[in-house]
Amino acid sequence: MERQQVIYLSILWLNNLCITNGAYKFNSLTCEVVPPESINNYVCHIKAIDRKHNMLSIASYALKNVSEIGIHFKMVKREIGGWHPFLYDMKLDLCEFFKNRRKFFIPNFIYSFMKSFTNINHTCPYLAGADLGLWNWTPDEAGILSKFPVEHGQYGLHTTWYINKKLAFKMNGSVLFF
Ligand SMILES: *[C@@H]1O[C@H](CO)[C@@H](O)[C@H](O)[C@H]1NC(C)=O
Ligand SMILES: *[C@@H]1O[C@H](CO)[C@@H](O)[C@H](O)[C@H]1NC(C)=O
Ligand SMILES: *[C@@H]1O[C@H](CO)[C@@H](O)[C@H](O)[C@H]1NC(C)=O
Repeated sequence: MERQQVIYLSILWLNNLCITNGAYKFNSLTCEVVPPESINNYVCHIKAIDRKHNMLSIASYALKNVSEIGIHFKMVKREIGGWHPFLYDMKLDLCEFFKNRRKFFIPNFIYSFMKSFTNINHTCPYLAGADLGLWNWTPDEAGILSKFPVEHGQYGLHTTWYINKKLAFKMNGSVLFF
């Protein structure tokens, strides 16, 4: 973890120590495949579980052999006037990540909450025809809040995916924490 991230996390932690309960609910999800297509995105939706909970699914299949996956992800927070950068704006080489997850603190932390819902869980290649997805993902509220206590509000994740170094996919989602 970079020094700056440690400082951010510490400040966040101290500022929000009092908030350790609450609930998350996804409230938007958009997916966009960028031509020329290297994946086919066939699932991109939020489904209700009950009044307070819902789950998210995103799935695509590879149209080409994938030897490299890059993700640029930005966390944002809704404030007056729109979305503002919040904590992380980083690029990740997913295939390098799966070679040694411990080297990537924040991505590994995020991945730990998705691990049992995704089959994007190994290093490259992913062969043409492979299904790549995150199914019925519902975050472990208690687990996230115990490690990442945040203020109530609306948070978003804006991601851009590069496959074999070419812009391939954009996915934005947001979550309401209340
Ligand atoms: C995601 O949000 C960014 C702004 O951060 C916007 O430029 C982009 O078009 C959005 N993409 C989708 C698929 O909604
Ligand atoms: C993908 O890779 C496999 C295994 O290396 C190979 O047999 C296949 O021909 C490749 N497919 C394409 C579409 O390049
Ligand atoms: C990757 O995900 C698939 C599908 O859920 C699973 O069968 C496999 O064991 C997982 N592999 C690893 C290394 O976690």
